[in-house]
Amino acid sequence: MSYSKRIEQVKNHLNYPKGLLAGQVAIITGSGQGIGAETARLFANEGAKVVVNDLDGKKAEDVAQQINESGGEAIGVKCDMMSDADINNLVKKAAEFGNGKIHIIVNNAGFTWDAVIHKTTDKMWDTMIAVHCTAPFKLIRGCAPYFRVRDGEPRVIINISSTSGIHGNAGQANYALAKAGVTGLTKAVAKEWGPQFGVRANTVAFGYILTRLTAAKELGGAVQLADGSKIAIGIPKGQGAKKNEEGNKPIPDIPLGRPGTATEAASSILAVASPLFSYVNGQTIMVTGGRNM
Ligand SMILES: NC(=O)c1ccc[n+]([C@@H]2O[C@H](COP(=O)([O-])OP(=O)(O)OC[C@H]3O[C@@H](n4cnc5c(N)ncnc54)[C@H](O)[C@@H]3O)[C@@H](O)[C@H]2O)c1
Repeated sequence: MSYSKRIEQVKNHLNYPKGLLAGQVAIITGSGQGIGAETARLFANEGAKVVVNDLDGKKAEDVAQQINESGGEAIGVKCDMMSDADINNLVKKAAEFGNGKIHIIVNNAGFTWDAVIHKTTDKMWDTMIAVHCTAPFKLIRGCAPYFRVRDGEPRVIINISSTSGIHGNAGQANYALAKAGVTGLTKAVAKEWGPQFGVRANTVAFGYILTRLTAAKELGGAVQLADGSKIAIGIPKGQGAKKNEEGNKPIPDIPLGRPGTATEAASSILAVASPLFSYVNGQTIMVTGGRNM
C-alpha cells in the first residue's frame, strides 16, 4: 500500500477526514525553503491555512503560490524576524488571514554563524541570540491575544532547536547557547499558558538534515542581514555533509546511517502540531536518526 494511502486510512480511522489540522491557522517562520517550506506544504495538506514567511519575500511568495495552486490555502509575507515592525506586521497579516484566529506558531527561522570561541565577535554572538531566542519570544508575545483564549480550539507552539543546543558543538558556542535557550522558552510557555488556556508548547531538535544550512559552504548559501552584511552558511568541504553527498557512505555516529530529509524533519513538526500529540507538552523531541542517544 502506498504511503499516502496509508496516511489517508489513519486519518479516517482517527476521524480527521479533512486533515489533522483542518481549519487551523499556522505561522511558520523561515518557510521560504528547507524544513520550514516542507512544513508549510505538509500543514496545508492537512487542512491548515498557512502563513509562509521569510527574509526572502520572493521565496515566501513562491511557496505560498505553490500551496494555493495545489488546492491549499496560504499567504506569503516578507518578514525579517529580527525586526519588531516586521513581526508586528506578520501577526497582523496572520490574524487577518485567519479571521481573528491563530492556532499554531512554528519558530523555525534561523541560520548559523560559526566560529571557534576566541574568534567569535560580539555581533556573531548577539545575532544568534536575536534570531533563535529573541525573535521566537517576540512572535509568541505578539500572538498572546490569539493564544490566551478559551474557545475550545487547539493552540500549539513549536520552537526549533538543534543537537548543538542539547549537546554543544565545537565552533558553535553562539548557536549552541541560542538553541539551548529556546528549550527554556518552550517550557516557560507550556507552564504559563497551559493551565488556563490549554496551549501546548514543545521543542523539536534536529540532528543532521539535508538543507541549504548543511549543504557544502562552497555552494555559496548566504543570509543577508538588514545592515547589509552577508553571512555565508553551509558546511565547509571535507566535513560531515560531503561524505554522504559524494559517497553515500553510512555516517557512523548516526544509527540510521544517513542524514534526514527536509520532509522527514517537517513530518515530525506536523506530528507534534497534530492532535496525535495532544498530551505531549513542554518536551524536547529529538529528530536525529538516533544520533547522540
Ligand atoms: N538542517 C539541519 O541540519 C538543522 C539541524 C538543526 C536545526 N536546524 C534548524 O532548523 C531551522 C530551519 O533550518 P533549515 O535547515 O531549513 O535551513 P534553510 O537555510 O534551508 O532555511 C532557513 C530559512 O530561514 C530563513 N531565515 C533566516 N533568518 C531569518 C529571519 N531573520 N527572518 C525570517 N526568515 C529567516 C532563511 O531565509 C531560510 O529561508 C533553523 O532554525 C535551523 O537552525 C536545522
